[in-house]
Amino acid sequence: MKTLIKNGTVVSDTDCKKSDVLIEDGIISAVSSSIEAPDAKILDAKDKLLLPGAIDAHTHMDLDVGFTRACDDFYNGTVAAACGGTTTIIDHMAFGPKGVYPWHQVKEYHSLADGNAVTDYSFHGVLQEKADDRTFAEMREIAEKEGITSFKLYLTYDMMLHDKDVFAVLNEAKRSNILITVHCENDGIVNYLRDRCGVENNLTAAFHPKSRPAGAEAEAVNRMLYMAECADEAPLYIVHLSSEAGLKEVLAARKRGQKHFGVETCPQYLVLNDNLYDDPKEGLKAIMSPPLRKDADRFALWEALKNDFLDTVATDHCPFTFEDQKQRGKDDFRLCPNGAPGVEERLPLLFSEGYCKKRISLPQCVKYLSSNPARIFGLYPKKGVISPGSDADIVIMDPDKKRTIRSASLHGNADYSCYEGMEIKGEIDTVLLRGEAIVKNNTFLGKKGMGRYLKRGISSLCL
Ligand code: URP
Ligand code: ZN
Repeated sequence: MKTLIKNGTVVSDTDCKKSDVLIEDGIISAVSSSIEAPDAKILDAKDKLLLPGAIDAHTHMDLDVGFTRACDDFYNGTVAAACGGTTTIIDHMAFGPKGVYPWHQVKEYHSLADGNAVTDYSFHGVLQEKADDRTFAEMREIAEKEGITSFKLYLTYDMMLHDKDVFAVLNEAKRSNILITVHCENDGIVNYLRDRCGVENNLTAAFHPKSRPAGAEAEAVNRMLYMAECADEAPLYIVHLSSEAGLKEVLAARKRGQKHFGVETCPQYLVLNDNLYDDPKEGLKAIMSPPLRKDADRFALWEALKNDFLDTVATDHCPFTFEDQKQRGKDDFRLCPNGAPGVEERLPLLFSEGYCKKRISLPQCVKYLSSNPARIFGLYPKKGVISPGSDADIVIMDPDKKRTIRSASLHGNADYSCYEGMEIKGEIDTVLLRGEAIVKNNTFLGKKGMGRYLKRGISSLCL
């Protein structure tokens, strides 16, 4: 089965070139200025961009938070991802029941995703409560057998790791070429401030960002970076950086010469601000951790993307319905499930708010959405690039069309979008997964379960 995409502009993380792309049996077989293939199905991409299928390295499909679950499962969450140009997700597992070791959640997540996902997928392992010899043995075995070469730990929440265990994990990660991804917020600061909110009856959404200040992020970022440095530069990946204060710690580490770390930010921290919490009802929609920040933080993060000081843009997609699930927090923000949808809006937002507004270049869009996540999470060059030998995961995009984001025309189960009513430039025409058109004109054409589980290699941050 051959497909030939004619007359498009192929975007890589370094340049944009007018090229034809030939696909055979799901794999790109040629990229060149002019290809003829009489037996191929032709897709005309005149005046369109060809972007590598985007990789979202931070989703929470079907996340179990104890009292409820994220409202997108691996089927409809990946349908939404696909319609937004994302052809691979790497999902962050929920904590398992108290006392379990890493294999427990790996098995649980296969049971949630296998046969359901419509994009290709992998998982980050999760580390909870403690780190001992059995934890490390399981990490090594999971990396080898499952290709899960990254594990997440948290510096806050009930099942967080404390510093001694964090440091032990980093040392093990260094020895075993495993990447540690980390949620950076200082637990002491957050819990003290949340308790105070309770005592002082400050329980509206407006107090959510006040209880998780930028300094709590910056302290934890600084601590993790130094701990990684002390563990002989253990490979580290900081998820969802939200603040200028946190960014300053990242830049300081780069200035010190620390190399084996990567930093992710998310569209919500680039596009939205904490004014959304002013309305006590609507504010529940944006209760997520870390919270939305000030405009100065957004601008600092855009500047960092422009200067290549950050590495990826992922979503932290963790949707709950507004009319039902989010209402748990209506009288006390602390009871609101944390997280927001965004998997479908990421590529369009980075294209429109980033490239079209001249904050970053088109190759930088590709770098943050596709090629860097592929490198950092051991998927490159199978994923993340339009090049001979790579999977034919391709987004055909019309750069000139305009649209308004409306939750009614998105595909997830959340009943809202944080970006409702935003006018954006650029529209996805077609999405190919391994050569097959799975999205055309905002309609999903694929089949449940067509996503393949991906065994990942070693992170570029280990090298
Ligand atoms: O608020 C968020 N981000 N919820 C998802 C879980 C996490 O903290 O990443
Ligand atoms: Zn997350």
